[in-house]
Amino acid sequence: MVKPSVFVTRRWPAAVEAKLAETYDLQLNTGDIPLSPAELRETLGKYDAVLPTVTDRFTAEALDVKGAQTRILGNYGVGYSHICEASARDLGLTVTNTPDVLSECTADIAMTLLLMVARRAGEGERELRAGNWTGWRPTHLIGTKVSGKVLGIIGYGRIGQEMARRAHHGFGMQVVVHNRSPIAPEVLARNNATQVDSIDTLLPMCDFVSLHCPGGAPNRHLINSRRLDLMKPDAFLINTARGEVIDEWALTQSLMYGLIGGAALDVFDGEPRINPDLMQCDNLVMLPHLGSATKEAREAMGFRVLDNLSDFFAGRDPRDRVI
Ligand code: DGY
Repeated sequence: MVKPSVFVTRRWPAAVEAKLAETYDLQLNTGDIPLSPAELRETLGKYDAVLPTVTDRFTAEALDVKGAQTRILGNYGVGYSHICEASARDLGLTVTNTPDVLSECTADIAMTLLLMVARRAGEGERELRAGNWTGWRPTHLIGTKVSGKVLGIIGYGRIGQEMARRAHHGFGMQVVVHNRSPIAPEVLARNNATQVDSIDTLLPMCDFVSLHCPGGAPNRHLINSRRLDLMKPDAFLINTARGEVIDEWALTQSLMYGLIGGAALDVFDGEPRINPDLMQCDNLVMLPHLGSATKEAREAMGFRVLDNLSDFFAGRDPRDRVI
């Protein structure tokens, strides 16, 4: 039997690549650098399945092909706002993602960011490495206590719930959530969370706000200058969702003028390019999109893509079909 042809756009963990090679006619982007829209478009004419990541922008332009051979995009990651949904539908593509397997690790990074910005850990590390630490003193790098504070979570899906679990059970925080749809009372009760009906209601209540909603056009600049102004002047904003959810210009203004306490970001609009103004903000912690970056999560993500491919090529509806 002829094996389906599969193209992987970036290097994956070796164990997953080996498993893929057993079952499929596998082609890898051995250079491991992001492909251009033209190169991405070219793959659609050559392979039965293409397996992209967040760095592969399958825009309307990249999906503008006639007679694609590709029938499935098996996305390596949970967020898929880098794939133009309307164009994928027009092409009749099936699109899958990798939920669940990275929720805990991504919530760990969100909690890491929360703690780092609250306790000024980034500033402390920068000072020490620069050789500027003059020793302990009672007023040095005074941060904010986390226990007992109110955490607002925007987007109460799997990652948002894992964040709430850590914050409530691990750090004794009170959790307030906003979600597009109502959350079942028993799900809220697990983390003693309260759901409010609007983001504008949530923001002034919180000492920390953590974003866990999808990216893409509908949520672009969901956090803008009007909403930043609704936050308490000493509150902190954490983003492990997608960069475009925050208006970064508005955020730099709030940080530079001390209108909020600080922010901590794992994702950036137009990453890996970083808005140079962000670099100037001391009360900002930045990580290079590390949410799912553990051996365990990255392998599990790969095996989840394999499960979806097995479903698809066996004629079943893939378990994680999103389009
Ligand atoms: C995800 O899974 O969405 C991560 O951000 C990597 O793409």
